[in-house]
Amino acid sequence: FLVDKGNHKHFMLKEIYEQPEVVARTTAHYLDMAAGKVRLPADLPFDWANLPRISIAACGTAYLAGLTAKYWFERFARIQVDIDIASEFRYRETPMVPGGLMIVVSQSGETADTLASLRYAKENGQHVLAVVNVPTSTIARESHIVMPTLAGPEIGVASTKAFTCQLAVLASLAIAAGKARGFVNAEEEDKLVRAMMEAPRYMNEALKQEEHIAGIAKMLSKARDVLYLGRGTSYPIAMEGALKLKELSYIHAEGYAAGELKHGPIALIDETMPVIVIAPFDKVYEKTVSNMQEVAARGGQILLVTDEKGAEHAEVETVATIVMPDVPATIAPIVYSVPIQLIAYHTAVEMGTDVDQPRNLAKSVTVE
Ligand code: G6P
Repeated sequence: FLVDKGNHKHFMLKEIYEQPEVVARTTAHYLDMAAGKVRLPADLPFDWANLPRISIAACGTAYLAGLTAKYWFERFARIQVDIDIASEFRYRETPMVPGGLMIVVSQSGETADTLASLRYAKENGQHVLAVVNVPTSTIARESHIVMPTLAGPEIGVASTKAFTCQLAVLASLAIAAGKARGFVNAEEEDKLVRAMMEAPRYMNEALKQEEHIAGIAKMLSKARDVLYLGRGTSYPIAMEGALKLKELSYIHAEGYAAGELKHGPIALIDETMPVIVIAPFDKVYEKTVSNMQEVAARGGQILLVTDEKGAEHAEVETVATIVMPDVPATIAPIVYSVPIQLIAYHTAVEMGTDVDQPRNLAKSVTVE
């Protein structure tokens, strides 16, 4: 497999631009567009209706895909989900009800802590399902069920296309679980499947914001600290935004649930502090607006990533607004991943750091 950067300056940028294509490939694999149904691996060794619980363990960006999936499984399938950072899960000696489902998420399929979590779950009577990008990996081999992400080889150390493909697989799985458990009817399934199939088109729209984002990055590159806020499924995306920015640009960044603002990070806010708010115009939008007002009242520099309706109803002054297409709530995390990746990428380029090989980081962490 020959992998090159094509016309792009970095592998990361190439991989960001590949996302509409690879997410389309992944969704086409798991969704039957004509029938409006999710297509799952045949002969699952468990019955969704009797599943006592779902546990998820992963590291880094894959962990944040898992955290997003918790919202989807709980909303669509009404099943409780425990989500853990794999290095914590493996040593916590958590009790597990036999017959539960353990989902491990990993791009490489070789991350030591994730593999150890998988083994612990197996020893404790769980069905293990792996969402992995490398189908020949150890994690894939040791799992009972494998749902590959069809992102293709990912070279940039900071994960981009593997992440959005993980989201696509996990959303499909959550919809299927909802259908099987009787909380999603055929009509709703059809609607959700259609929404998922639209994701690549919306991601293409989002990519058109690159120039605007490159301009914003000039401002961000001067910051010492950046705070990212989001609610609901935008919370893991805010965390992913902060992770990407610190990995690539070495600017200190934190992702917080918007509602936690007043329990700590609000103390940091002054006129030098950019606050990136991820807020599509969804059920929790109004709540996020009040958090933005709290930031604005303290002179914080708000950078809002939203859609047209959200921009209209923001009620605060922003230093910049990135306007995304108006998308169904379920696919918002997939589409909003694009601007947060571009923000981190362009800030790093502005600072002259090594985008594809950030200092101290490894693509695959096979030791503890
Ligand atoms: C490393 C990589 C991250 C990745 C994490 C988990 O830290 O730099 O991009 O998210 O490992 O890797 P995995 O291969 O398990 O997804």
